[in-house]
Amino acid sequence: MPGDAAAQVPRHIAIVMDGNGRWARKRHRPRSFGHNAGRKAVREVIEACLREGVQVLTLFAFSSENWQRPQDEVGALMGLFVRALDKEVDELHSHGVRLRFIGDLAAFDQPLRERMQAAMTHTADNATLHVNIAVSYGGRWDIVQASRQAAAAVARGELRAEDISEASLGQWMSLADLPPLDLFIRTGGECRVSNFLLWQIAYAELYFTDTLWPDFDQASLRQAIEDYARRERRYGRTGEQIANPS
Ligand code: FPP
Repeated sequence: MPGDAAAQVPRHIAIVMDGNGRWARKRHRPRSFGHNAGRKAVREVIEACLREGVQVLTLFAFSSENWQRPQDEVGALMGLFVRALDKEVDELHSHGVRLRFIGDLAAFDQPLRERMQAAMTHTADNATLHVNIAVSYGGRWDIVQASRQAAAAVARGELRAEDISEASLGQWMSLADLPPLDLFIRTGGECRVSNFLLWQIAYAELYFTDTLWPDFDQASLRQAIEDYARRERRYGRTGEQIANPS
């Protein structure tokens, strides 16, 4: 609602952090150098979300398709995730951040899976800011895993096939317990969704910027939030209905 201060800050922001490789290439450095710089941008954005009062931040760190990248790049990314977990979890915890990993976690090796699980357990009681890290995640994978759970409920006799609805299927999608996605940001200049949060994106506002992810800072996030605050979210209704709710 225009003028409603709380509505001007999105409750849930998701980001496709694109452009690390190009950022590194511009500096004649390997792609892993860009990913490392990207980690600093993650910190910046988490700090900005805490300051702005955003409740949920969901980051696309590694897609189901990213396994196809050269082995040394995948290895460098895994090493970076491990170092980030070892180094940052305690500080995030002290700020009331709850960390969650979403995606096909079974695809990761045991030590990394254990670190992810430990970080989730350690921060499970926090609620100031939910930070969800999507790893080996794909929006289609999410819809398939939710459908499997619905099918299993039907097989157990707990749900009738004809009772499967948006609400009942939606309860099994990742992040179903959190506020719906308000703002979807993609850095790096491409205007596509790339199989991120396909179900959850239904009514999100989309924001694309040419800024490469390592250059995305607190001012960049503020700019995205200001742009979001100017949008009129109609959810299928007319502008008049939004202005004069009955
Ligand atoms: C896309 O840029 C980025 C990734 C595939 C990895 C994202 C990972 C980070 C930002 C590291 C830090 C994350 C955490 C959660 C600690 P790209 O490589 O596709 O860039 P390009 O399009 O310029 O090649």
